[in-house]
Amino acid sequence: MAEINPNSDDISSYANFNDILQKEVDIDVSLDFDKKQMTGKMDVKYEILSSDIPKIILDLKGPEITSIEYIEKDEDEEDLNNIPLTYEILTENKYKDSLGTPLIISLDNVEKNSLEAYKKISESKSLMVRIKFITTEKCTGIQFLTKDQTYTKKYPFMFTQCEAIQCRSLFPVQDSPSVKSTYIVKTSIQPPLTFLFGGIMKTKYYDCNSKQNISLFEQNIPIPSYLVAFVAGELEYGRISDRCGVWTEIGLCKKACHEFKDAERYIEIAEEYLNHPYEWKIYNLLVLPFSFPYGGMENPNLTFVTPALLAGDCSMSNVIGHEISHSWTGNLVTNKNWKNFWVNEGFTIFMERKLDSALLGEDMENLEAIVGNNELIADIKLLGEDSEYTKLSPDFGTNDPDDGFSTVPYEKGYQFLIFIEKLIGNDNFKEVMQRYIKKYQYKSVDHTAFKEVLEGLIKENYKKKQAKKKIAEIKWDKWLYEKGIPTYKNYFSSEYLKDAEKLAEDFINEKEDDSSVLKKFKDWHTNVKLAFLNYLLENKEKINETIAQNLKKKLNLAEDYNSEIKYMWYLLALDKKMDEEIPNIENFLQTHGRLKYIRPVYFAWMEKDFSQAKEFFEKIRHLYHPFARRIIQEKFDKGQ
Ligand code: BES
Ligand code: ZN
Repeated sequence: MAEINPNSDDISSYANFNDILQKEVDIDVSLDFDKKQMTGKMDVKYEILSSDIPKIILDLKGPEITSIEYIEKDEDEEDLNNIPLTYEILTENKYKDSLGTPLIISLDNVEKNSLEAYKKISESKSLMVRIKFITTEKCTGIQFLTKDQTYTKKYPFMFTQCEAIQCRSLFPVQDSPSVKSTYIVKTSIQPPLTFLFGGIMKTKYYDCNSKQNISLFEQNIPIPSYLVAFVAGELEYGRISDRCGVWTEIGLCKKACHEFKDAERYIEIAEEYLNHPYEWKIYNLLVLPFSFPYGGMENPNLTFVTPALLAGDCSMSNVIGHEISHSWTGNLVTNKNWKNFWVNEGFTIFMERKLDSALLGEDMENLEAIVGNNELIADIKLLGEDSEYTKLSPDFGTNDPDDGFSTVPYEKGYQFLIFIEKLIGNDNFKEVMQRYIKKYQYKSVDHTAFKEVLEGLIKENYKKKQAKKKIAEIKWDKWLYEKGIPTYKNYFSSEYLKDAEKLAEDFINEKEDDSSVLKKFKDWHTNVKLAFLNYLLENKEKINETIAQNLKKKLNLAEDYNSEIKYMWYLLALDKKMDEEIPNIENFLQTHGRLKYIRPVYFAWMEKDFSQAKEFFEKIRHLYHPFARRIIQEKFDKGQ
């Protein structure tokens, strides 16, 4: 029976990373689109930390293992010595649905077959293992799309999503963010397709013998497994600046280059705030087909984004600012387990808003904080005030860390940091951030890393008594472990909010000005429109049929707007039982896969007409990513 040590640094992984550590991964992969399989061979270099030679315990959830060998290579990287290893997969264990099954590799065969090799291992305290694997339909971290599910509808597509613990569904790995390793990746694929990895592309060529497009990538900065990313499809590339660019399906590149033109500026502002260069050299984005279940994912050198960001007006570029910020908070300084997820996301939201503040002004930063707080309150209501997942640092035991995904770690984390920033002042806080990144880059941390740097600076910059008082005012335990809406209220005020609420009130009182209202609304920044819609949703009991029709007609709400605005409008339309909006909603749901939108829209539709929503979902569920499909299916299964 597989057990998880409750005192482990990361209870979401079976790996014995305190005994043996994965350091370098060299991997060759290819795809079979007909069979929907990724096949690979990986040479993994481990460093032994324990005094004896341990077994190697890896995480695994889905792939089939075809062979495992001990290998030695000569200086030219040629194989010298291969010894097959025995291994065991503990399929019967109580956490298999959430955490998968441990793969236990024994090195006994090395001792039996070559004492010399065994001696080499114990002297060098390191060894290399070769694992061959094939993914199966159980691998939920990889999605194969048919032609029909792509933009051009010409070629199939494949992408992976490893965060939080899906890397183990691609290949066996120490699947914990507390472990970081470097990668060398070789991909092969049939032209005209391109097969990318989230690293720096070293070469790309057509191999006349195998008739394949070959690409070689390196990730020299050690990364946690959740940042491993692959994508394959018919892709084109556009350049944004010397170090920024974007990959898209054919036909979307020009639009994407325009939409993401601020990428370079965002990087420069973050470099300045953190006084730390962008270390990853290249920043590329990749626009995925719509089934990608998130807004963005900070895969190194290759941020993945939803095509819904291509709104034409850069109105959702905060997502780019967010993913760029992860280059420091998350990808350099990494949460060491998923209980500390807020250490990735709370800090990244903080940075995202600092960047937007520099680009759009402080009033917009405050409005974003207000919109974020609205989302936090909505999520806490949805989870239930007493849910463990409303804690900034929840204890979810051996459940899948993705199960409780919400804006809580993002927005509560952000509010905690803003509270501290107000307490010690902007300049001091900036200095703490800079020291924190410098001290903990390339490492994995929990909240105590930041706490230590923060308290150090407070002690330096304030007199003893005052420092003690400041430190005592930061009630860490309360922030980390209190459920529900934060008891400390940050008051964010923004002139934009006043405009939004005034117009919403005018509509509610049927006093909106017919002639200028549409122009005024259209000119607003997306965040102002969102604050407007949020106000309406909060006061929905005051909205009757006439008001709902006025909103729709006078603001063209059913058309023209980006996906953030649309999904909020659909929530209102469903609540007001506007049947004529159902075709638009259906269209939206079959062209969007981002959970942030489709989850609340399905939930609202379930409230309005459960069986109609269910019938529709069943018809199109195959279009969604396995994760999105599961989350929505679970809600339908729970019933009305
Ligand atoms: N790292 C997250 C996405 C993620 C989190 C994937 C947990 C899987 C598990 C990414 O950086 C993110 O936060 N995306 C947000 C962007 C938003 C906050 C601007 C999203 O997709 O909504
Ligand atoms: Zn994030």
